[in-house]
Amino acid sequence: MKIIDGKAISAKCKAETAEEIKALTADGRRAPCLAVILVGDAPASAVYVRNKKRACELVGITSLEYLLDKDEPEAKLLELIDFLNKDESVDGILVQMPVPKHIDPERVIEAISPDKDVDAFHAYNVGKLFTGAPRFMPCTPAGVMRLLKESGVSVSGKNCVVVGRSNIVGKPMSALLLAEDGTVTVCHSRTKNLAEITKTADILVAACGRPNMITGDMVKEGATLIDVGINRVGDKLVGDLDFDSCAEKAEYITPVPGGVGPMTIAMLMENTVTSYKMRFNLI
Ligand code: GUN
Repeated sequence: MKIIDGKAISAKCKAETAEEIKALTADGRRAPCLAVILVGDAPASAVYVRNKKRACELVGITSLEYLLDKDEPEAKLLELIDFLNKDESVDGILVQMPVPKHIDPERVIEAISPDKDVDAFHAYNVGKLFTGAPRFMPCTPAGVMRLLKESGVSVSGKNCVVVGRSNIVGKPMSALLLAEDGTVTVCHSRTKNLAEITKTADILVAACGRPNMITGDMVKEGATLIDVGINRVGDKLVGDLDFDSCAEKAEYITPVPGGVGPMTIAMLMENTVTSYKMRFNLI
């Protein structure tokens, strides 16, 4: 069994991005710029936003932070997005999810210009992803693909099972695995005989948000097990995989924390650079 070190792989990705930005800005061109909007002060979201800012500083992306009061009307948020859409010095716009209940996340996502949608949440970019011509990669699924690649796990022809069908992870994950010629099954809360299906997986991606739900008896000997779950249980962070029993069966497995988590931000940095290159006609 080998543990996939997401922290190390993410550090390598960020170092590569930093090098690329250095080369892109060597002739005096401005640095890439990411605008992050946080509505309200949910502690978990505040941590994510702080980590994004830190990563931006590390790789050489200018980061703009907009903190809106939790009661700010939706119209104000849409106004800010419109302003950032039109600002030529901004390459990426990210609204940290979830937003407070009085704000419609769909309306927010569709308000972001598809050319600056570094989360790849906008319907246009989701469509591009599913038709096989993605511009921005959905960050967490892209992070999973990079972990597989860096670990030398090929996807082509493999049985891939994704547990979870969210717009942020499950659905785009299935698209990326399919694009790499995996045979993909998506399971969810209404799936019957879940264990029978997960046992067929050469590559299993757990993204259902239920602590320790996938246990060792549900996975195939020699499988690659990827854990996207981040669940707070007491004062501990645990994944959707029951790590100890799953590790006994796996050839490769990602830990929580230190697996998929650090990759999401590394991929966000890459998307911001992609957006920048599109803006300056460099791709
Ligand atoms: N909340 C949890 N994950 C994400 C993400 O990838 N992007 C945004 N914008 N919000 C999130």
